[in-house]
Amino acid sequence: MSTTSPSPASIAPAEGKLGVLVIGLGAVTTTLIAGVELAKRGQGLPIGSMTQMGTIRLGKRTDGRSPLVKDFVPLAKLEDIVWGAWDVFPDDAYVAASRAGVLEQGKHIEAISQVLRDIRPMKAAFERKYARNLTGEHTMGDIGKRAMLNAIREDINRFRDEKGVSRLVMIWCASTEVYIEPCEVHATIEAFEKAIDANDERIAPSMLYAYAALLEGVPFANGSPNLAVDMPCLRQFATERNIPISGKDFKTGQTPMVKARQLGLSGWYSTNILGNRDGEVLDAPENFKTKEESKLGVLEDILEPSKNPDLYGDVFHKVQINYYPPRGDNKEGWDNIDIFGWMGYPMQIKVNFLCRDSILAAPLALDLVLYSDLAQRAGLGGIQEWLSFYYKSPQVAPGLYPEHDLFIQLTKLKNTLRWMMGEDQITHLGREYYEN
Ligand SMILES: NC(=O)c1ccc[n+]([C@@H]2O[C@H](COP(=O)([O-])OP(=O)(O)OC[C@H]3O[C@@H](n4cnc5c(N)ncnc54)[C@H](O)[C@@H]3O)[C@@H](O)[C@H]2O)c1
Repeated sequence: MSTTSPSPASIAPAEGKLGVLVIGLGAVTTTLIAGVELAKRGQGLPIGSMTQMGTIRLGKRTDGRSPLVKDFVPLAKLEDIVWGAWDVFPDDAYVAASRAGVLEQGKHIEAISQVLRDIRPMKAAFERKYARNLTGEHTMGDIGKRAMLNAIREDINRFRDEKGVSRLVMIWCASTEVYIEPCEVHATIEAFEKAIDANDERIAPSMLYAYAALLEGVPFANGSPNLAVDMPCLRQFATERNIPISGKDFKTGQTPMVKARQLGLSGWYSTNILGNRDGEVLDAPENFKTKEESKLGVLEDILEPSKNPDLYGDVFHKVQINYYPPRGDNKEGWDNIDIFGWMGYPMQIKVNFLCRDSILAAPLALDLVLYSDLAQRAGLGGIQEWLSFYYKSPQVAPGLYPEHDLFIQLTKLKNTLRWMMGEDQITHLGREYYEN
């Protein structure tokens, strides 16, 4: 078995500080910043983040090698992250986090109030027509697109100098912009440049941030569904300059994804009605016991509590199967799954997943930042399809369809990490265990 391309010859070490420039200092961003700062101080766990809490199996199942991801690949350390942001409102991260109402004021905001107060947003490249309901005045003003682009580039360079960072990553966590259809102004850099000079309204602020990042050699990740870096000219530009890009739209929801996201689980209550023979048999407690034990076993195999006692060490699991003849073979189930996320905040998944959006999005943003920086140091430019795991609408090369299956995305991501580090791919074929 051989892979199609050779592993990177080397990955530059994560030396010095990593500047994280976030567009938008709202709910997701402040939850991200506060969580990382709390985690640095041992005041909370970065739950939901693969880079911080996930493990990766290396070699055969019988080898017993499953290091933490962060011990396997050379990621930037949380201690080395320095924050910068732009926003339409002048509020510092303390005020913005308090206003967002995601985190507990005393335990998770006051505890790090000084750090948060010190993060003050730079003036936003913004025009009302891209988000009509935003009334903030903390903007660059109506200075034209070329001047906005230049001002963002100046902000990046000033931040780099003032904070003494050795590398930067930019991530879009700002409000979703109005819908813009990709068209001829987004086709080539020449057309794009011309449209900037002409103040063409099809050039949105997100595109100016993305272009500024690429011009300054900074990887760009896009947490919203607006285009930003997802257009032919910027894809091409990022590939030519060998700068990592990825998008679009954080994938936080709906499917049960507790394990894949390293979210914690405290309880699983499942009740079912079933009217066939199976149901009739299972109505007897001694038969049901067999079923219950096997279900518990499956859950254990999936969760691997011994590897992750913080997340799965104490799970209360209850399964009921009730015999109900009118339904016959048509089983119906109601699952209530008690999980916990970033910093231990509890959530519930039911038929409707009752979740906390920013608690789910923050760890994705953290992982995207760290992996984009890793990709840059490994010399991987252009679209980072291996980061599809984090996106609802993954960016892929022209002519390819995106892979949406979360578990294939996860396999792709982990195989990319193995490939980067010169380890064997894990195909999950598993023939070797049954030969000879
Ligand atoms: N939380 C989730 O689960 C989730 C999932 C997918 C996508 N997203 C996306 O992530 C983004 C952030 O979500 P949020 O809950 O933090 O929103 P939010 O409204 O709390 O924060 C967004 C911030 O961006 C600022 N902003 C808007 N335009 C800007 C510009 N041009 N430059 C600088 N700042 C600008 C706004 O003033 C606001 O403070 C949204 O676009 C959302 O759709 C979130």
